[in-house]
Amino acid sequence: MGKHILILLVTICHLAVALADTECGENEIYADCTATCNPEDCSELGFPKSCPSDGSCPTGPGCICRGGYLRDSEGNCVDAGQCPSCGGDPNATVGCGTNCRKKCEDLRSRPTRCPLGCSLYGCDCKDGFFYDRFKKRCVKPSECRFI
Ligand SMILES: *[C@@H]1O[C@H](CO)[C@@H](O)[C@H](O)[C@H]1NC(C)=O
Repeated sequence: MGKHILILLVTICHLAVALADTECGENEIYADCTATCNPEDCSELGFPKSCPSDGSCPTGPGCICRGGYLRDSEGNCVDAGQCPSCGGDPNATVGCGTNCRKKCEDLRSRPTRCPLGCSLYGCDCKDGFFYDRFKKRCVKPSECRFI
């Protein structure tokens, strides 16, 4: 008797999860916890994000964007590369976060070897733009400051 009720409950739980899953929107997946260590919207791209390290979940389950996708201003999950700006800089786009050979200094030095590390939700300057460490944004070569 008790065993049957348990099986029924487990079945209902599975059904609920399956239903919730199908209710997620395009490019979304159902997650046991919506608080992840990854950025969730475009505006968070390029910034380090803190997340609970103790395994707790302050938010509960729900739909999140699938890997590599972020919410745009309308709440739709779009490819991170389609976010209007990266790290708040319209002249940056998703990249490894290293700006390898895309720093103003690189305009004046031999090509350097790029670090192997690549952050999944990092930002690099768009092609034709170089990172100015004084202005902390991506600029055209003619706008680079060197001192
Ligand atoms: C983006 O690049 C354009 C063209 O160089 C520049 O005019 C603009 O100021 C840049 N935007 C930012 C936020 O730096």
